[in-house]
Amino acid sequence: MRLFVSGGAGFIGSNFVRRMLAKHDDVEIVCFDKLTYAGNLDNLKPVEDHPRYRFVRGDICDAAAVHEAVRGVDAIVNFAAETHVDRSIAEPETFLYTDIIGTHTLLEAVREQGIGRMVQVSTDEVYGSIDTGSFCETDRLSPSSPYSASKAGGDLQALAYHTTYGAPVMITRGSNTYGPYQYPEKLIPLFVTNALEGKQLPLYGDGMNVRDWLHVDDHCDGIEAVLMNGEPGEVYNVGGGNERTNREITSIILDELDLSESVITWVEDRPGHDRRYSISCAKLRGIGWDTIVDFEQGLRATIRWYRDNEPWWHKIKHGEGEFARWQKRWYDDRS
Ligand code: NAD
Ligand code: TYD
Repeated sequence: MRLFVSGGAGFIGSNFVRRMLAKHDDVEIVCFDKLTYAGNLDNLKPVEDHPRYRFVRGDICDAAAVHEAVRGVDAIVNFAAETHVDRSIAEPETFLYTDIIGTHTLLEAVREQGIGRMVQVSTDEVYGSIDTGSFCETDRLSPSSPYSASKAGGDLQALAYHTTYGAPVMITRGSNTYGPYQYPEKLIPLFVTNALEGKQLPLYGDGMNVRDWLHVDDHCDGIEAVLMNGEPGEVYNVGGGNERTNREITSIILDELDLSESVITWVEDRPGHDRRYSISCAKLRGIGWDTIVDFEQGLRATIRWYRDNEPWWHKIKHGEGEFARWQKRWYDDRS
């Protein structure tokens, strides 16, 4: 199977590329990525010389580049997106281009070139916050942030392309994902690397917002299950079943690194901050998927991965990239 993996240089995409090449002898991958601040070829170093892997730098909003690069592939898996909620609050415009127009560009390529399958990788954040119970795939979308609204726009384009043109597209809605190679602006890698550097951990609001945490390997396996066995036009939730408050996540990080709570700084809450995410994954289980990674073991192994791979994140946090500008812009206003 020849796969076109857009956004494959980011966190989940690079884990997916490495995992699919290791699991299957008959999978070829074209990784297509714009290399924004979040895209990082270091994430793909372990496979850069792999005979069944090729990298193409390009933008999913660039129709000509997409049409050229997808020629001959059997399926598209789209990870490419602007993904950070806080950035979408401060600087929303690029989210609309990549997450909506970019998705549309890929759908057009599927339609015009008759590509057999496409998985649009989306998020549980499109449903919005839920106080009790869990969302299933038919629940209404009620996104709160410019990020989740843009992702919802991409989802709706994909479903409309299936209804109108019969495009063979499936959607996955994953929950908060953790694991190696996550850009250190997101909660877990930011807090772990700050703790390792002797810096403060900025907890928003009362620290009691709940996220459902999913190991990246389990997320990748869910996407693979949908790619192989999903029904076109259908949506599949992919959740870890591990609901924790941000305060609880912080406690595990501090415990693993043997630090006290004095490193926590309470900062002003994120505007529009969703209180709780929760999804039901019975539908995905019905096509042969389940989680494998135990949450506490997976989180502690992830913390140790950042401790043992300092050069990977040090280059991001202290190199010439975007990280310092963003941290100054966002956190200076909130502490
Ligand atoms: P990420 O921010 O780590 O990586 C995004 C990748 O997309 C980067 O490599 C970036 O260079 C690339 N990219 C961005 N704009 C592009 C464009 N216009 N053209 C081509 N490439 C572009 O993201 P991630 O955390 O790996 O998330 C991947 C996907 O999974 C996203 O669609 C996201 O919405 C979804 N998702 C993420 C999570 C999570 O917790 N991280 C949970 C559920 C769903
Ligand atoms: P994040 O990793 O940005 O993922 P998302 O907003 O997509 O769920 O944030 C996870 C949770 O952690 C969310 O409730 C916001 C909170 N958070 C903090 O308390 N402090 C921080 O510095 C960050 C980045 C997030």
